[in-house]
Amino acid sequence: MKTPLVSGIQPTGRLHVGNYLGALKNFVDLQNLGRYDCRFVIVDLHALTEHITQKEQRRNILELAADFLAAGIDPKKSIFFQQSQVPAHAELTWVLSSLTPMGELNRMTQFKDKADRHGANVGLFTYPVLMAADILLYDSKVVPVGEDQLQHLELARTLARKFNERYGRTFVEPKPLLTEAPRVMNLLNPAKKMSKSDPNGCVFLDDEPNVVANKVRRAVTDSGSEIIFDPVGKPALANLLRIYAAVGSTTVKRLESRYRGVGYGTFKRELGDVLVEHLAPMRERKKKFMRDPAKLRRVLERGSKQANKIAGDKFADVRKKLGLSL
Ligand code: AMP
Ligand code: TRP
Repeated sequence: MKTPLVSGIQPTGRLHVGNYLGALKNFVDLQNLGRYDCRFVIVDLHALTEHITQKEQRRNILELAADFLAAGIDPKKSIFFQQSQVPAHAELTWVLSSLTPMGELNRMTQFKDKADRHGANVGLFTYPVLMAADILLYDSKVVPVGEDQLQHLELARTLARKFNERYGRTFVEPKPLLTEAPRVMNLLNPAKKMSKSDPNGCVFLDDEPNVVANKVRRAVTDSGSEIIFDPVGKPALANLLRIYAAVGSTTVKRLESRYRGVGYGTFKRELGDVLVEHLAPMRERKKKFMRDPAKLRRVLERGSKQANKIAGDKFADVRKKLGLSL
């Protein structure tokens, strides 16, 4: 039996190297291991918390679908679907919300950050409960995510445990699965995580090659000139080394010995080349997928149908456990 695995990404704009190395690339690698029953979901209901227009929302969903397929998600190997097309996600959210203490949501750092920036809405507040529903509906044992999602996953575990204690064994407690680059930092400020809110410190997956090369060239580096991995003393360089190792299919150790006695300039130029080379085929594949939106819709429709079967059965069991089925 394969191990059930779920993860999701919000359709809220262009993906960057942080999303890719913390999440999407790992999704593809895990899918191709053949050991997991993978379910990948475009979490369009989560995106509603950001007040996106109808036109943008549709565009963002198709773009993200193209990103997943271009990165290598294969709908024959993984169930790939759209959250809003599987009603059990919203239904289970309501059920779980009655088990969620306000205090647990109040201390979520992502909520505090986002509420500070955009002002709070109730959707932002209950966002982690919807995420817990995404995960628990599929009995996911593992959830590949970036480090910023660990607190949300802890809530999913708590809610699974609480439900099971109160209503009998129903849900699996999920565990996070992090990559070697679980928190990619802003290229211009290694104290901040890479995020689309600062486009200059962030390499987008569909940036043109010269833009990628320039962003890497302008990345801040630390004082000194040696290429060594020292996350405390040289956090900016450590970030670049992690990115290089991940896209260059090598290790930080090997990079350290390869760049012994070589200056930052050469290192950054070569990292730019490797990154461009890694992203270029994906960019081309994405363009091709975007030319055929009907195909993207078909893929998501088929995936959503498969997901509906699993999630629908699970939610029927939840209804029974709660005493809602007469
Ligand atoms: P989001 O765009 O917020 O839906 O994030 C999608 C995935 O990318 C989640 O698993 C995040 O944890 C991950 N992620 C976002 N930013 C970063 C980053 N700077 N470094 C590593 N992973 C990230
Ligand atoms: N909250 C996640 C993020 O912001 C996205 C997400 C929603 C997710 N549901 C999920 C991730 C379920 C993993 C599993 O990145």
